[in-house]
Amino acid sequence: MDNNMNHLKDLLRFDVRHLYSTEEQIIDALPAMIKKAHNPNLKQALEQHLRVTEQQRDRLNKVKQLLGEGDGKKNEGGIFDGLFDTGTKSKGIDGLISEGKKVMGIDMDPAIMDAAIIGACQKIEHYEIACYGTARTYAEQLGLTDVAQLLQQTLLEEHDADDLLTSLAVGDVNRRAEAGATLNSTSNRYS
Ligand SMILES: [Fe+2]
Repeated sequence: MDNNMNHLKDLLRFDVRHLYSTEEQIIDALPAMIKKAHNPNLKQALEQHLRVTEQQRDRLNKVKQLLGEGDGKKNEGGIFDGLFDTGTKSKGIDGLISEGKKVMGIDMDPAIMDAAIIGACQKIEHYEIACYGTARTYAEQLGLTDVAQLLQQTLLEEHDADDLLTSLAVGDVNRRAEAGATLNSTSNRYS
């Protein structure tokens, strides 16, 4: 493998570690979102996504093994070990989760809360879709077919989760949120 390809593999290893942290942080964050959700279909979709996310984290363990990670050797990330702070949590997903938590901390109409939870989850999904798509493409370029297939499998699941959230939003949750907002503004106007 020439030097450029070695460095691309280092970058893939870094991205996989970053994705592992991302999934763990989502696993930690989802129970609070499930608790706050009111719509039973939304609650069910989030519970299902928590189980899928746990499988995605386990799938990344397989990816790490295929990339020769986790044997305790130093400098597994090669040149990127010095560039990125590899020991910490994913700051990107941390920011999205923190924003979602702030919004969920506001006292609001149940239907608006559901719409806010869907919005927060979709931002998280889109972040994951970007990260998995990039890592999958690196694996393809490196000819690591097994790794690319595992990452692609998760990428498809993230797209499915995003589509499900969209269908819940347009089909039910946002309509109720809008109806609630109209009702509230009407009652405010006449009170
Ligand atoms: Fe995920």
